[in-house]
Amino acid sequence: MAIPFKLLLGSLIVMSSLMVSYGGNFYQDFDITWGDQRAKIFSGGQLLSLSLDKTSGSGFISKKEYLFGRIDMQLKLVAGNSAGTVTAYYLSSQGPTHDEIDFEFLGNLSGDPYIVHTNVFTQGKGNREQQFYLWFDPTRNFHTYSIVWTSQQIIFLVDNTPIRVFKNGESIGVPFPKNQPMKIYSSLWNADDWATRGGLVKADWTKAPFTAYYRGFNVQTCTGSCTSSVSGRTWQSQELDAYSRRRLRWVQKNFMIYNYCTDLKRFPQGLPPECKRSRFL
Ligand SMILES: *[C@@H]1O[C@H](CO)[C@@H](O)[C@H](O)[C@H]1NC(C)=O
Repeated sequence: MAIPFKLLLGSLIVMSSLMVSYGGNFYQDFDITWGDQRAKIFSGGQLLSLSLDKTSGSGFISKKEYLFGRIDMQLKLVAGNSAGTVTAYYLSSQGPTHDEIDFEFLGNLSGDPYIVHTNVFTQGKGNREQQFYLWFDPTRNFHTYSIVWTSQQIIFLVDNTPIRVFKNGESIGVPFPKNQPMKIYSSLWNADDWATRGGLVKADWTKAPFTAYYRGFNVQTCTGSCTSSVSGRTWQSQELDAYSRRRLRWVQKNFMIYNYCTDLKRFPQGLPPECKRSRFL
């Protein structure tokens, strides 16, 4: 279908006035919060590394906070024997009733798969875990992990493939994070009491330091109203297209290894309401 040029031009102008896309610099956008020299910024701010040794892990936090947006980061996870390590990458507000949107990468023995753990907290309450294996080795190359957060839904993406969609279920009494601005956090730490095969496999400190790398930080947010006529491939477009829905089903069928929504043992008094309505899944 041909789109009249004037219309195209018009929509480009609308988009550019509403969307702010920002390709980041680690010096300008983040503060190292712990781990001293275990966290390093290189290449004029384009690359960051976190490491973990027997004494300490390390972490960083964004200087700015965000209320809705699309946030992309490329990560290259701890290679080799990463058992017992956890690389957490998440958005969070502060305080006892904080909201949080989580990616956590649970390391493993060389050649065994990482687990990608996801969760959404609203008003201090989580308990909405889904876990996945990946369809590639996340330690060989950088891959893009994204969170698309609007007032209507949260989409977790890996290399632009949606792995999870958490919809706003306020209409059925499920609180949704939409009032508290969040900062971006990441940390690399030792969780060998639970991370790998439930804590059975411990970190091998002869292989320390363990190191994860970050680059390609990018944020798209809105100035003014995000809900006006912007259509097309922008982060705030409401629904996944048919291709993305197929990809989501492919991931959920082949790579999902835990879903709170099917864990009847855990919710003997009944599954959470969003799990019973397919349009919220
Ligand atoms: C580690 O590998 C084992 C064996 O393949 C697997 O059962 C487990 O889910 C993997 N991931 C973690 C984090 O334990």
